[in-house]
Amino acid sequence: VTAEKAGFDHFMLKEIHEQPKAYRDTMMGRIGADGKSVTLSKEIGMTTEQIRGISRVHIVACGTAFHAGLVGKTVIESLARIPVETDVASEYRYRSPIITPDTLVIVVSQSGETADTLAALREAKRNGARVLAITNVVGSSVARDADDVITTWAGPEIAVASTKAYSSQLIAFYLLGLYLAQERGTIEQAQVAEIVEAMHRLPDQVESILEQAELYKGVAEAVSKHDNLFFIGRGLDFAVAQEGSLKLKEISYIHSEAYAAGELKHGTLALIEDGIPVIALVTQEDLYEKTLSNIKEVKARGAHVLGIANAGYEDEVAKSVDETFSIPRTLPLLTPALSVVPLQLLSYHASLARGNDVDKPRNLAKSVTVE
Ligand code: G6P
Repeated sequence: VTAEKAGFDHFMLKEIHEQPKAYRDTMMGRIGADGKSVTLSKEIGMTTEQIRGISRVHIVACGTAFHAGLVGKTVIESLARIPVETDVASEYRYRSPIITPDTLVIVVSQSGETADTLAALREAKRNGARVLAITNVVGSSVARDADDVITTWAGPEIAVASTKAYSSQLIAFYLLGLYLAQERGTIEQAQVAEIVEAMHRLPDQVESILEQAELYKGVAEAVSKHDNLFFIGRGLDFAVAQEGSLKLKEISYIHSEAYAAGELKHGTLALIEDGIPVIALVTQEDLYEKTLSNIKEVKARGAHVLGIANAGYEDEVAKSVDETFSIPRTLPLLTPALSVVPLQLLSYHASLARGNDVDKPRNLAKSVTVE
């Protein structure tokens, strides 16, 4: 069993450490030989004409894959300029979504077997939409039923709490966003080159976070003594905060809530009391000042704030928070692929500190085949 875990104590930790490879494998063969363009013509059978005709995108998924879809929304909207809605699959079908033949429905599923996601996929097809799947399992039900498939090459994920599958789904969305943008002519070639170049640096940047993995142990132990905490952030930081909060709940059983930092003052601020941990993601540089002012609001009410900041900004952020963790700097759009890693490590160590079964949390299944 230890051999299967490649010397790691748990599958989850092994899978966290496999992310640099998962990123490389998911990008492989999908970046043009010039290193400056993205090619998904093998995965996506749509003509340029069809891609130009897409009027809206619906991203549908469950759990962690849904959180990848929240990032996917921003990626596709900002690069390809198509309106995107992201929904949880169990809600999507029942709200009579407006699905037209020029709607592209993207289903995201690690296993490709989640019943809610499959049902949403079938509903979308019944309504005449084109369905693109992002899945980690070749030949899965989702892969078979979709029109087009982008496989995430994360390799088998055993731990119930998803890590490398989520982050590889982000890579798939970056590739997809770029490809759609190229086909639709909404991006300059120089910008594609800039993003692709930054994507190539991500695996080493994740590696450098992992080299400091032990840093998160102490803070996780402190967090594990609390029963409630908050994750806050704006924009893509809010999307990642939601994934960080879910990860912590799943395996540490600590209650947490992810909040859009600017929305706290409209109600949730009432819950901030002395000593409550608040994990603040401050990586989106254009929103930086705004998030810092929200951090001051919670600090003033006694919160203990842990900040996750870009390298180069940590000293500035340190002035407003109690403890700062820095992540390597990349393009704002790509930051989720880095900022989620400290949150995975934090959850892992908090679960361990609480003596839980990290790989097999209570009440949860890796793949849920009931609706
Ligand atoms: C289950 C798992 C989650 C996962 C979700 C969706 O609830 O416990 O970790 O995110 O299903 O799974 P999928 O295989 O569709 O990505």
